[in-house]
Amino acid sequence: MNYTFDQKIDRRGSDSMKWKFMKQMWGREDLLPMWVADMDFPTPPFILNAIEKRLHEHPVLGYTCSHDKYWDAICQWNLSHYGQQVRREEVNYVPGVVCGIFLALQTFTEKGDKILIQQPVYHPFHLVPEATERVIVDSPLKWTGETFEMDLEQLRKDVKGCKLMILCNPHNPAGLCWSHETLMEVAEICHEAGTLVVSDEIHCDMLLGGRKHIPFASVSEKARMNSITLQAASKTFNMPGVVASQAIVYNPELREQYFNYIEGTDMDLGNAFAYDCVAAAYSEEGDAWRKAMLEYVEGNIKYMSEFLRENCPKIKAIQPEASFLVFLNNKALLDVLKEKQTPYTKKENESLTDNQIAQRRLEHFYANEALLALNSGSMFGDEGTGFMRINMGCPRSTVEQAMQQLLEAYKRVVD
Ligand SMILES: Cc1ncc(COP(=O)(O)O)c(C=O)c1O
Repeated sequence: MNYTFDQKIDRRGSDSMKWKFMKQMWGREDLLPMWVADMDFPTPPFILNAIEKRLHEHPVLGYTCSHDKYWDAICQWNLSHYGQQVRREEVNYVPGVVCGIFLALQTFTEKGDKILIQQPVYHPFHLVPEATERVIVDSPLKWTGETFEMDLEQLRKDVKGCKLMILCNPHNPAGLCWSHETLMEVAEICHEAGTLVVSDEIHCDMLLGGRKHIPFASVSEKARMNSITLQAASKTFNMPGVVASQAIVYNPELREQYFNYIEGTDMDLGNAFAYDCVAAAYSEEGDAWRKAMLEYVEGNIKYMSEFLRENCPKIKAIQPEASFLVFLNNKALLDVLKEKQTPYTKKENESLTDNQIAQRRLEHFYANEALLALNSGSMFGDEGTGFMRINMGCPRSTVEQAMQQLLEAYKRVVD
């Protein structure tokens, strides 16, 4: 099968978030958007066909129930890809993974309860608890100088008194896959502390370099009985606009509470296309597309990493182990930006911290010098200072263009 990852699609005017919010975010519309975490590839044909088929087969878009094909596809995919035996009753539909996190907070915690997260991490991990008046406990990842790793000793201290921990497995934005050993240790620590783990595994189908995903619930009985797993086909198959994810809960008591809350709030009701799209994704055809897509994305990451190494050595890509997002380490570039006359100096910004000033310089460089719209590292927590996140789920020509723009800006600043 020939796929069209090289095809450049103009998404302007399609209400694509990465284009539509550009002006609001950066005050200009001429940037190359490589921020929001969806891909610029066409959604695979078997998904589009599933939608067309539904439209042509029946003209009424009424309330639509799930069907066996949907549940079987999820259970079968988990078995064949992760060796996870998931029974039908252990899964429920949830609209989005972030919504699944919200529903878990509502079910298992109350206002004022402590929720543990490990920054830098996907920003809704703090936004959702904050919006629901929970208290965030940040147990930060450790920066090794090359990459981030989990600080288990710190976690052991910080988790005390936390009702729930939100785990990112694999990790966004650093693209990390946690080892069996690390996950087992997290399970032990959380079990001992009486802290429920919500494992966000939305990136689990996009492991790179031949790696295999390790579901948190699979590492021990304690993990299995003390966790909620959230998955989705949406990110891997580039259909987040369809809004369909799933929650897996093995512990019958937790399951009853969580699923009752989901059903009671009508959150288990997918749209008329959701179930067909998920069933189409978790298929043999889906798996072939997924592998081809990952190979293409790996090529993009390799191209960018080599380009940066050769031409912009003060910017280093943390090599992702999963997904199409790359965290760029700009700490060395920041030292140069500090020396230059940039719009952000301590004098002008009395109220800002040194980290905030540094990050603004970096944001200014990427947007106004390199004309790239990337996610600022600080969005993922203060620990993300010095980083920018770039999206490699796009045609190679977009990556090439981005690198040329970056190089021109880099030369003006560094050389
Ligand atoms: C770790 C993580 N969780 C959740 C989401 C979003 O999931 P959803 O759109 O299903 O809420 C993303 C999107 O980038 C993500 O990276």
